[in-house]
Amino acid sequence: MATTADYGLGEFTFPRGWFMVAPSSDAVGAPKPLRMFGRDLVIYRGESGRVVLMDAYCPHMQAHLAAEQTSGAAARRIEGDSIRCPYHAWRFGPDGRCDHVPYYKGPMPPAAKVRSYPVEERFGCVFAWHDPEAGEPDYALPDLPEWQDPYWVRCTFDDLGTIPVHPQEIIDNIGDTRHFGPIHGQIMAYFDNIFDGITARQRSGGGHETMTTSEDGVLDSDAMYTGPGILIARYSGETDAVQIILHTPKEDGVTQIWHGLITRGQSVPHSPADLEMNRAYHDIGLAAFSQDFEIWRTKGPAIHILRLPTDGPFPRSRAWYRQFYNPRARAAEYQARANGLHRTQDVPAHPSVEAA
Ligand code: FES
Ligand SMILES: [Fe+2]
Repeated sequence: MATTADYGLGEFTFPRGWFMVAPSSDAVGAPKPLRMFGRDLVIYRGESGRVVLMDAYCPHMQAHLAAEQTSGAAARRIEGDSIRCPYHAWRFGPDGRCDHVPYYKGPMPPAAKVRSYPVEERFGCVFAWHDPEAGEPDYALPDLPEWQDPYWVRCTFDDLGTIPVHPQEIIDNIGDTRHFGPIHGQIMAYFDNIFDGITARQRSGGGHETMTTSEDGVLDSDAMYTGPGILIARYSGETDAVQIILHTPKEDGVTQIWHGLITRGQSVPHSPADLEMNRAYHDIGLAAFSQDFEIWRTKGPAIHILRLPTDGPFPRSRAWYRQFYNPRARAAEYQARANGLHRTQDVPAHPSVEAA
């Protein structure tokens, strides 16, 4: 297992960005313990419906705010959108400040607070903003208009668990032109990358052994990272599909991964055929992703890539990823090293580029 320091990514052990921390269905009225970004956290849904994520340990005497799971009393400790500590009943608002102590009326010391994280819910997932500099979000979560479109069959997310692999290895996939043939059985028609600020995009097309159903099937894929933890890949071919891959650093060098896939149906409400197509696509999408997953799970760390000139643009993708491990004041430096359209030598770029 290699760490952020081993890869020389930057000043911070954990990156800045929006990350999935739990499926929405996990955020309920009783506080639950959660571990992400190398920290113990607590997550709950307040009475207004708002999801709150905060550091787990009470500043009074360090009780875990999600303790007392067995007595059934945990849910009663949610008051409005605030939570009471199980030990001496200090209460913390969703901003993390202590707003009530049952046995003290004086002014609270400034240290009577826990760190609370900005949280947003989208497409059935809870996303948290993690920032080593504790700043406000500096980019928005990606839109997924298909999720709101009644023709699209939604999904629940597969929790693929954790792998002892640094997310750098997963990010490398975005510029990895040459793995498509060996791993996915793809006969590549075109491939290119576009890096632009906090987004990293990969456009590819060709026959795909796993993700097309007919022998001469062509699959066009347009995959984009918005920040370091959210990849949305749109596929057009026999059926329109969107694959969503979410990965979050759990410990330094350990990554938690979720996978989802939605498809466009032919009717509203969905016909049995729409649902069947969704299931089939989900299964082949997961199978294709599992081909990568198996490599990550078993590989050694590629601290340095022995890159050939005809490999994909790894120096660009790695520069892009470094922006999130360094102070945001320096993000533009890394973006400048990554931004632009990048071809892979001896591989056609997207047809729109070739036509220009
Ligand atoms: S440890 Fe939380 S109130 Fe005392
Ligand atoms: Fe892959």
